[in-house]
Amino acid sequence: MQYNIPITPIAQSKVHDLDFNNIPLGTTFTDHMFICDYEDGKWINPRIEPLRPVATHPAAMALHYGQAIFEGMKAYKDPNGDPMLFRPFENAKRLNESADRMGMPDFPEDLFVEGLKQLVALDAAWIPPQAGSALYLRPFMYADEAFIGMRAATSYKFIIMASPSGPYFSKHIRLWAENHYIRAAHGGTGEAKAAGNYAAAIRPTEIAKAKGYDQVLWLDAAEHKYIQEVGTMNIFFKIDGKFITPELDGSVLHGITRSSVIDLLRHFGYEVTERRITIDEIRDASINGTLEEAFGTGTAVGIAYIKEIGHGEDTIHVSEESPVAVRVNNTLNEIKIGKEDDPFNWMVKAERELV
Ligand code: COI
Repeated sequence: MQYNIPITPIAQSKVHDLDFNNIPLGTTFTDHMFICDYEDGKWINPRIEPLRPVATHPAAMALHYGQAIFEGMKAYKDPNGDPMLFRPFENAKRLNESADRMGMPDFPEDLFVEGLKQLVALDAAWIPPQAGSALYLRPFMYADEAFIGMRAATSYKFIIMASPSGPYFSKHIRLWAENHYIRAAHGGTGEAKAAGNYAAAIRPTEIAKAKGYDQVLWLDAAEHKYIQEVGTMNIFFKIDGKFITPELDGSVLHGITRSSVIDLLRHFGYEVTERRITIDEIRDASINGTLEEAFGTGTAVGIAYIKEIGHGEDTIHVSEESPVAVRVNNTLNEIKIGKEDDPFNWMVKAERELV
């Protein structure tokens, strides 16, 4: 479908105020946002405007009943200086899977990608050129109908904002395997990228941080035995030369970096199995010397090397040498900035072809 996306440009860009060498994730926002309204069963009025606060009624249903979902993705520049998106159609699809679980309307996938392309092309000067940095993109949808009561809202907003970001972790990280709090139970919302999943994780994450850990490693809700995922990422282990990662059983986010890493590892000739993994199995592999690597994968973090997992009284040690994870990380980064061939056709140019 062809969309008319009118653009109201900002009078004066703020990009010159940005210190590109110091941009922690989520602290700075670009000049513009893409915004679209859902009313009377239809998405209407897609547009790009200067980024500004959006008025919210105190009874907006997202604030009370949590109909709020989001995506995370990044834009890069290729060697010609063209802005490039990493697998945007996957994010469009996942947003709609989250919307479905949360009783929210589908957002047209072609409009999602068109809005992204136009926003990123317009704010391309904000894409940091430094290795490991990128323009983080945050598409999200929330219920803005003013109503008190328990049903699906009838009006929503879909917005994309953009935030330049530097590297997330610059060191190997420590995880806390959580034995009390849970992130997701079967039949819950674990595989949706729903704001509430993150809300419920905040307190356990603060507790883990107070103990000196970087993020929580979530275990299953019923037995606290099976590994699910980490605070802001999926997880992989290399045991005896082979890779394993928790299967997508409904409680695990369908990470786009996760699936890209599986593709790359297989492309490199490694065996990768998606299956149930117990925390005890990882502890035993560490003790008997077969646990070779552990790393997290996510849009914000990229690849995060794991050096230690605390679990009750145990500490599971992982080697700080992660040669395959480093290779995957480097290859992924080079594909994203167009310095290496893109064998899977992941990259999509953000062009401003006004339609
Ligand atoms: C991402 O990796 O893009 C996420 O959505 C995690 C976020 C909480 C930083």
